[in-house]
Amino acid sequence: MSSQARIPPEVKARIEAFKKIREQEKKVEENMKKIKYKIAVLSGKGGVGKSFITASLAFAMSYLGRKVGVLDADIYGPSIPKMMGVQGQSVMATSDGRIIPVTAPLGVKVISIGLLLPEEDVPVIWRGPLSTSAIREMLAYTDWSELDYLFIDLPPGTGDEQLTIAQLIKDLTGTIIVTIPSDVSRVVVAKAVNFARKLNVPIVGIIENMSYFECPDGSKHYIFGEGVAKKIAEKYGIRFLGEVPIDPRISRANDAGEPFFVKYPDSKASKVILELAKTIAEIVEQGTGG
Ligand SMILES: Nc1ncnc2c1ncn2[C@@H]1O[C@H](COP(=O)(O)OP(=O)(O)OP(=O)(O)O)[C@@H](O)[C@H]1O
Ligand SMILES: [Mg+2]
Repeated sequence: MSSQARIPPEVKARIEAFKKIREQEKKVEENMKKIKYKIAVLSGKGGVGKSFITASLAFAMSYLGRKVGVLDADIYGPSIPKMMGVQGQSVMATSDGRIIPVTAPLGVKVISIGLLLPEEDVPVIWRGPLSTSAIREMLAYTDWSELDYLFIDLPPGTGDEQLTIAQLIKDLTGTIIVTIPSDVSRVVVAKAVNFARKLNVPIVGIIENMSYFECPDGSKHYIFGEGVAKKIAEKYGIRFLGEVPIDPRISRANDAGEPFFVKYPDSKASKVILELAKTIAEIVEQGTGG
C-alpha cells in the first residue's frame, strides 16, 4: 500500500482545497502585476458614501486620462453596478476561465458579484470563507488587461474581506478612508486607521463625505458637524484630502442607476471629486502615498 492511499478522503479534500487557494494566490499576484496602482476604499462604518466616492473617483481618474477599473468587494450589498450604470450587463468569460469585466461610461471597467448573480433582490447569504473566496476569484481571474488604477470598494468595517484584500494584494498602493463628519466617526475612523497600520497598508488620506449642504445663495450648512475629518487627520498624522458636499441629486442618480459624476459634471460635488482625483494621482504617482 502506498503512503498516498493511507490519507483519509477528508484530509485529501482539505489538501486539494489548500492547493487551490495557493494557486489562486499565485494568479492574484500575476494579475495584479498588470495594474500600476491599487487603491482600496475603506470606512469603519456603513452608509458613509464609500461606494459613491469609489465610483466617482474612478470616473474622475478616467476623465483625467488614466486606464481605470473598479472591483466591488462588497459581496453582501454590491452597489457599484447601479452607481456606475452597468446594472444588468452580462459578464463574459473566456474559454480558459478568465472573467471579462463590463465597461461603464468613460471606459471604466467594472467587476462585481452583483453582475454575476441573477437578481438584484435576492439576498446573498455567504459564510466568511465563501465571501473571501469570491473576492479571491475576482482578483485572480478578472481580465483587466492593463490598468493604471484599480479602485476596490470594500464592505463597511474591518473584517475578513478587508483582511483578504490587504493580504492578497501584497503591493497594495494604499487605502483611502471615507467618513462623514459626525461625532461617532471619530471612533470608527480610528479603527480603520489602526487596521491599515497594523497591516502595513499605506494610508493615502481621508475624504470627508456629506460635509455640508450649499444653498443657492452660496451659504454652507454643516448638517452633521464641521471640520471633523480634518481634526481626525491631524490627530492621526494622515492627509486630509478634502470634503464632498451633500447633494440630493447624488442619491437620486444612484437610485436611478445613472452615474452622478457623468450626469452632473458641473456640480460642486463632481468638481470636488475631480480635484480629489488629481490630488490622489499626484500623491501615488510621485510615490509619496502613506
Ligand atoms: N454627498 C452625498 N450627498 C447626498 N447623498 C449621498 C452622498 N454620498 C452618498 N450619498 C447617498 O448615501 C447613500 C449611501 O451611500 P453609499 O452606498 O455610497 O455608502 P456606503 O458607505 O458605500 O454604504 P455601505 O456601507 O452600505 O456600503 C446612497 O444612497 C448615496 O446615494
Ligand atoms: Mg457601499
